[in-house]
Amino acid sequence: MSNEKIKIGILGIGSIGSVISYLLKENKFLDLFYYNRTPKSHIKILFEGSEHNVSIDKLNNFNKKLDWLLICLKEHQYKSAENLLIKLINPDTKVVSVRNGLNHKAHLLKYTRQENILECIIDCPTQLKQNGIYEQLREPIITLPKSRLATGFENLFVRRSIDINQVEDFKTESWKKVCESSALGAILCLSGETCWIFQDREMLDLYKSTLKETVQVAKADGASIEDDFVDEMVVKLLSYPKEKSSSMLLDRLKGNPIELGAKNGVITEIGKQRGVPTPINDLFVTLLKKTNAKNETKNN
Ligand SMILES: NC(=O)c1ccc[n+]([C@@H]2O[C@H](COP(=O)([O-])OP(=O)(O)OC[C@H]3O[C@@H](n4cnc5c(N)ncnc54)[C@H](OP(=O)(O)O)[C@@H]3O)[C@@H](O)[C@H]2O)c1
Repeated sequence: MSNEKIKIGILGIGSIGSVISYLLKENKFLDLFYYNRTPKSHIKILFEGSEHNVSIDKLNNFNKKLDWLLICLKEHQYKSAENLLIKLINPDTKVVSVRNGLNHKAHLLKYTRQENILECIIDCPTQLKQNGIYEQLREPIITLPKSRLATGFENLFVRRSIDINQVEDFKTESWKKVCESSALGAILCLSGETCWIFQDREMLDLYKSTLKETVQVAKADGASIEDDFVDEMVVKLLSYPKEKSSSMLLDRLKGNPIELGAKNGVITEIGKQRGVPTPINDLFVTLLKKTNAKNETKNN
C-alpha cells in the first residue's frame, strides 16, 4: 500500500474554506494545497473562545495532481475562477462544491464527469472580524447526498467538531438552506443591520413572510418541507447573537458582489417557472441587483 498522502486542494480560503481547512488539518494523512485570489499566509479561526491558527505553506501550487478539490466559492465567483478550475480538475479529481444554492453540478459539468462531483451544503455561520479572524459561531453541520463519493469525503475528516449527514433527499435540504439564508441574508443586507433587528415584531414578521413565500416555491419545485419549518427557523434565528451579520450584508458593506443569484434570484426564477408568485423576493432582487451590477463591474 502506498504511503503517499491524499492530495486535497481547497479553492477559496474565505469563511467556509478557512473552517474546512482547519478541520482537515487534523488529518495527518492529508496533504493540503490552498488556492485563493488574494495571497494569504495564515488562517485564523475563533471558535468557542479559542483562537486557532493554520499556516498556509502551499498556496497556488499547480504542480500536483489533486485527489480532491473542495470548492468553497460563492456561486458568482465560479466564473472568475474558470482558469483555476481548468488547471486543478484532472479526470480523476473528485470535486466537492461547498456552497449555498441549488443544482451545484450545473457549473461544474464543463470540467468533469457528473460522477466526480459531490454537492455539499454547510450550515456554519462564520464571519470575518476586523482583525482578520474568522469567527465561527457554531459547530459545522455538513449535508451530502447519500453516495460512495459522500462517504469518501466524510472519511477525510478526523471527526472532532463537525456533524456530517448523508441524506436521500438532498434537493429538500438544499431548498431549506436557500429558504433560510436568502430570507436572513436579504433582510439584513437591505436594512444594513445585524440580527438585533429581529427583536422588532415587524422585522420578525417580514422574516416569516419571506420564508413562507419561499417555502411555497420550494414545494412547487418538489421539495418536501415540513409544516413546522418556519417555526423552527424562527427559533434558530432568535438564538443568534444580536451582532450576527450575514455574508450578503458584509459583502454589500465591503462593496463586493452579493450572492443574489444563488439565493433570492433563484427563488424568483423558479417561482416564475412554477407559477408561484414571489412578490417579496422580487422586491429584494429589484432593490439589490443594481448594487450588485455596480459592485461586479468594480470587482472584475
Ligand atoms: N460565511 C458563512 O457563514 C456561510 C455559511 C454557510 C454557507 N456559506 C456558503 O459558502 C459559500 C462560500 O462562502 P464564504 O462565506 O466562505 O465566502 P467568502 O468568505 O467570500 O470566501 C470566498 C473566498 O474565495 C476567494 N475567491 C473568490 N473568487 C476567487 C477566484 N476567482 N479565484 C480564487 N479565489 C477566489 C476569495 O478570495 P479573496 O480573499 O480574494 O476575497 C475568498 O477568500 C457561499 O455559497 C456561502 O453562501 C457561507
